Amino acid sequence: MPLPYVLLSAAVSLDGYLDDTGPERLLLSSPADFDRVDDVRASVDAILVGAGTIRADDPRLLVSSAARRAARTAAGKAEYPLKVTVSATGELDPGARFWHTGGEKVLLTTDEGARRARALGVAADVVPLGAVLDWRAALEYLHDRRGVRRLMVEGGGTVHTQLLQQELADELQLVLAPLLVGDPDAPRLFGPGAYRRGRLRLVETRRIEDVVLTRYLPTAPGTGDRVTAADRHWLALACELAELCPPSRTAFSVGAVVVAADGSELARGYSREGGDAVVHAEEAALAKVDPADARLATATVYSSLEPCARRASRPAPCASLILDAGVRRVVTAWREPDTFVPGADGSGVLAAQGAAVVVLPEYEERAKAPNRHLEG
Ligand SMILES: NC(=O)c1ccc[n+]([C@@H]2O[C@H](COP(=O)([O-])OP(=O)(O)OC[C@H]3O[C@@H](n4cnc5c(N)ncnc54)[C@H](OP(=O)(O)O)[C@@H]3O)[C@@H](O)[C@H]2O)c1
Repeated sequence: MPLPYVLLSAAVSLDGYLDDTGPERLLLSSPADFDRVDDVRASVDAILVGAGTIRADDPRLLVSSAARRAARTAAGKAEYPLKVTVSATGELDPGARFWHTGGEKVLLTTDEGARRARALGVAADVVPLGAVLDWRAALEYLHDRRGVRRLMVEGGGTVHTQLLQQELADELQLVLAPLLVGDPDAPRLFGPGAYRRGRLRLVETRRIEDVVLTRYLPTAPGTGDRVTAADRHWLALACELAELCPPSRTAFSVGAVVVAADGSELARGYSREGGDAVVHAEEAALAKVDPADARLATATVYSSLEPCARRASRPAPCASLILDAGVRRVVTAWREPDTFVPGADGSGVLAAQGAAVVVLPEYEERAKAPNRHLEG
């Protein structure tokens, strides 16, 4: 199921705290950074905070700039992004500013929490999601029922921790503030628990007055049928690589990436790479990996088009090359049409040998883009 792009946004002290334990909210960002946050807010469909942040900070979570709000309205969007909070208990102050400022509000909660919140008279669309709140179900609800494609999560630590641990965060925007809190009772950005091993990818650092913004993307592929945010990033990269292919009237333009379980890239390739007129993307990528590399057994191959099951150009189709390499997980955007090979079913070949094949149709149009000349 497609999910919103989930952007975690936070400011932390040098010792990793989100706040202190005083009654007032600790201001970690600088004025220019608050303006940057305002710009990010204006760019998203919804902003989410946990109930703990509403209790601690009583935030309004508005787009402050009138020009940015006007631009949203001119683009046919609501003046303010949807405001979303999550609570299991439903114990929320109905007088909090969250409910009485900005545009629409949604409370995602449990059945029990919904009863409590309604009894308290919380002014929001109260949505019960069962006996417990499952994050994937919550994100599916926002995507499918509320049309949320980009979701900004502004804390607090409990919410950030869960979304990162459950590998549902697409991006982390972290602002490091030059001060120390030093109070072990203060809330931390990320709590203890099971995180995926491996390194995030640093995609930007920016000095903003005296704070530093860093942006990271997750890298660790999912396992089996379980899709992570990193799967979507790698598949998007495969689609970008497809754009590099020398055009052909007799073969698809495809991109592929081979990624180890810890999120490190083992190789990438694209169709007809390096002057080889018949090489396929997966073939080009796998040829760059040492066949003895033990990481292949738990690696994922991302391919913009489903790996081929039969081909005229060479004896071994890509589905076989992938299986022979020991890879048992493939993520693709587009099932092979009958353009060159009728009834091609690379996914079936892979699945028959025990490989997990995940198709993310939301990337199909991107995978097709460099192949438009083959249509019709
Ligand atoms: N520096 C920053 O950028 C920044 C940003 C935001 C917040 N903060 C700080 O962070 C602190 C608050 O963080 P926090 O960790 O205490 O609270 P939080 O993450 O904002 O909210 C936690 C609450 O959200 C609800 N919740 C979380 N996961 C849930 C799930 N899976 N199912 C159902 N409900 C769920 C629960 O509410 P119920 O208890 O109602 O069930 C839980 O107690 C504050 O001190 C605030 O100042 C800092």
